[in-house]
Amino acid sequence: PKVGLPLPHEAASLHVTGKALYTDDLIHRTPNLLHAWPLQAPHAHARVTTFDVTPAYDVPGVVRVLTAQDVPGVNDAGIKHDEPLFPTEIMFYGHAVCYVLGETEDAARLGAEAIVVEYEPLPSLMTIPEAIAAESFQGAQRTVSRGDADAGLAASTHRFSGEFSFGGQEHFYLETNAALALVDEAGQVFVQSSTQHPSETQEIVAHVLGRPSHEITVQCLRLGGGFGGKEMQPHGFAAVAALGATITGRPVLLRLNRTQDITMTGKRHPFHASWEIGFDADLRIRALKATLTSDGGWSLDLSEPVLARALCHIDNAYWIPDIEAHGRIAKTNKTSQTAFRGFGGPQGMIVIEDILGRCAPQLGIAPEELRRRNFYSPGQPTPYGQPVRHAERLAAIWQTLSDKASVAQRQEQIAAFNAGHHDSKRALAITPVKFGISFNLTAFNQAGALVHVYKDGSVLINHGGVEMGQGLHTKMIQVAATALGVPLSYVRLAPTRTDKVPNTSATAASSGADINGGAVKNACDQIRERLATVAAGQLGIHPDDVRFVDGVVTGIGFHDKQIEWAKLTHDAYFQRVQLWAAGFYRTAGLHWDANRMQGEPFKYFAYGAACAEVEVDGFTGAYRLLRADIVHDVGDSLSPLIDVGQIEGGFVQGTGWLTLEELRWDTSDGPHRGRLNTQAASTYKIPSFSEMPEEFHVHLFERATESGVVYGSKAVGEPPLMEAFAVREALRAAVAQFGPAGYPVDLGSPATPEAVYWAIDAARTAG
Ligand code: MTE
Ligand code: MOS
Repeated sequence: PKVGLPLPHEAASLHVTGKALYTDDLIHRTPNLLHAWPLQAPHAHARVTTFDVTPAYDVPGVVRVLTAQDVPGVNDAGIKHDEPLFPTEIMFYGHAVCYVLGETEDAARLGAEAIVVEYEPLPSLMTIPEAIAAESFQGAQRTVSRGDADAGLAASTHRFSGEFSFGGQEHFYLETNAALALVDEAGQVFVQSSTQHPSETQEIVAHVLGRPSHEITVQCLRLGGGFGGKEMQPHGFAAVAALGATITGRPVLLRLNRTQDITMTGKRHPFHASWEIGFDADLRIRALKATLTSDGGWSLDLSEPVLARALCHIDNAYWIPDIEAHGRIAKTNKTSQTAFRGFGGPQGMIVIEDILGRCAPQLGIAPEELRRRNFYSPGQPTPYGQPVRHAERLAAIWQTLSDKASVAQRQEQIAAFNAGHHDSKRALAITPVKFGISFNLTAFNQAGALVHVYKDGSVLINHGGVEMGQGLHTKMIQVAATALGVPLSYVRLAPTRTDKVPNTSATAASSGADINGGAVKNACDQIRERLATVAAGQLGIHPDDVRFVDGVVTGIGFHDKQIEWAKLTHDAYFQRVQLWAAGFYRTAGLHWDANRMQGEPFKYFAYGAACAEVEVDGFTGAYRLLRADIVHDVGDSLSPLIDVGQIEGGFVQGTGWLTLEELRWDTSDGPHRGRLNTQAASTYKIPSFSEMPEEFHVHLFERATESGVVYGSKAVGEPPLMEAFAVREALRAAVAQFGPAGYPVDLGSPATPEAVYWAIDAARTAG
C-alpha cells in the first residue's frame, strides 16, 4: 500500500524552488488587472459622518471606488450577517470603510488617501474586563456541566481558586490574504481565493453579488499557511474582488500587505478564566467550577464554535466528577477573533493545565504525578457525555515518553545543575493532550470527491479539501493510489474548486484527511469494483478474487496471469464501464445537542504527551528550550514524514503562542486607542531557528490503528499544538526554583522573558 510510506510533501520541490503558485502569483498570468486597496479607519469605534470619494478620481490611475451603493446583493460578509462589508459604523481600528480600484497598487493607495472621511468617535471597549464591566457580550452563552460542582467543592479536602488571563495569537501565515476575481468567457464569476473554505467563500460572494451559487466558482490552488485564519476571514476580500470584477469587467486583485492583514483580520481569541477547584484527600480532582470569557472582537465570526470547543476541552486528559463550566463571548472593538489551530481547544486545556501547575506545589506533589493520577480511565465519560475511548493510551504514551526522554535520570541531572547554579535554573515538565476530532457541528462532517480514470489508465482526483502546507494532497494521492492499487505516479491531483466538488466543509478541525480521504477512497472503491468485474471476466475468476497491486491486476494465486492496469482501463472503456466516480463520506456515529452541550460530537480522541526542559536566567528572565520529546498518536500514519512535520510545526507554533508572541493593543485613552501596535514582523515575534528546541525528538505512538477512519489513521493537524503546554509548565517549574519550597508560580501567558522575569521577582520576594 502507498499509505504509510514516508513521502515528502507532494509540492516540496516547488515550495523550495519558488515555483509553487499562490493566488497572488497569478497576476503575471492575468492581463488588464486592477488592484484593490482598502481605506482603513483610524478609530476603535466611530460613526462615519462625512464620506466623499470624488477626490479619489482625480488621482491618475484610479478606476473605481467601491462603496455600499455598489452592492447588488447583501452588504454583509459574515455568515452571521453581522459584518457589513462597507460599514457606516467603524467597529475596530483599521476597519475598511471602502476599497479603491487602480491600474496599479500605488494608484489605488493614493486614491484611498485622497478620499475625504470624517468620523465621530464613539466609546470603545478594548479588554475583556472592560467588556465584562459594560456587559458587552455577543452570541450564545453556554454551559457544560455534570453532577453538582458546588456540592463537590464543598466536599473537597483541598480547595483553590484563581483567575487567569491569557493572550491571543496572530496567524502569521507566510501568504497574506489574497483574492483574484474575474468574469470568465462563460459569464461566470471566477474567484481564486486564499481560503480554507471555498464553498463558504462562494456562498458569501453569491449573496454579496445577489446571484445564485452556480454563477460563482471559487478555486484554491494552495495556501501559504492558513492555521484557521483563512477559514472565514477571506470571504469579504473575495467578495470585494468579485464585486470589482463584475462592475468594471476587468480582473481585480485584492492582496493585503502584512500590516493590512494583521490589522484587519481576526486572531486566536484571548481569554479570561476564573476558577475554583477541589481535590480529594488522595489528590484526585473532585470538582471544578469555571467561567471562561473569550474576547470575540467586533463580530461573531467563529467565536461560538471556538468557545464550544474550549468548554469541551477544559477537562483535557482528566476525569472531573463534578463540573460546571460557563462560557461567554465578550464583544470588543478589536479585529473579529477567529479559528486558530486547536479552535478553542488550547484555550480550554490551558486553564486546567495552569490550575494543576499552580496547585501541585501547594498539594506537595510533583506536577507530573498530579497529572498522571488524574487521567481518565477507559470508558469514563467526558463532562459532555462522550466515553473516552482508548483512554488507556494516555498512560501508555506517558510511560513511553518517560522512557524515551529518560525523565528520571534527567530529573537527577537537573537537580544537580540547580544545586550548583544560583542564578540560572533548569526544569522539565510533562503534559498530556487529549483532543476531540470532528467538527462539533455534526453537519460539517461530510466530504465529497471526484475521481476520473482516463482510458490510458491515468488518474485525476479532486476533493473538497484545501492544501495549506499540511500535506493533505500528499495523503490524498497516497489514499487513491492505495485504493486503486496503482503506482503514485499514475495519480495527479487537481486544484480544489467548487464546480468540481460542491457544498464542501472548511478544511479545518484537523479532519481534512479523515473526511476527504473517506470520500476519495469511496470514489476509488467504486471504480475498482467495476474494474474487478471486467478483470474477472478476462482472468476467468470471481471478481472478489481480483487483486490490484502497483498497476498490475491479477487474481489470488494467479501470478502467471495478469493484466496491466492501463490495458484494463482501456478494455473497460470499450465495454462501456464507467471509469469515473463521485465519492462521498459522512462521519458515522456523531450526535451533538449544542444547547445542552451534551452528546458525542467527536469520532475519536487524538492523544499525546510532551516533555520539555528549559533553562531560565535569573537576571533577565531569558530562557532556552534545551530539549523537547513528544510521543503522539496519529493512528496508523497515512504519511509519516508529513505527520512528524505536523507534530514539530504544531509544537513550535504552540510554543510561540505560549512564550513569545504578544499582541499589544493600544488601550490608552490617547488618539490611537484601539490600534494594534504589534503589526509587523519587527514587533510581533514568531518562533524562528533560534527558538527551536536544541534537541527535538518526535515519536509516533505505535500499534495505534483507529478503526472506522481511512486506513486506520488519525487526524494530526491541530492536536500537537497543545503539546507545547510542557514548555510553559517547564518555565513555571524553573521559576519555582527561585522561590521557597511549595511556592505556587503565577505565570503570565505568553510567558515572555519579561513575564518570566516578573515571576522570578515574585518568587524571590516570597522567599
Ligand atoms: N500545517 C501547515 N503547514 N499549514 C497550515 O495552515 N493548519 C492547521 C493544521 N496544520 C496548517 C497546518 C490547522 S488549523 C488545521 S485545522 C489543519 O492543519 C487542517 O488540515 P487537515 O484537516 O488536513 O489536517
Ligand atoms: Mo483549523 S483552526 O480548524 O483551521
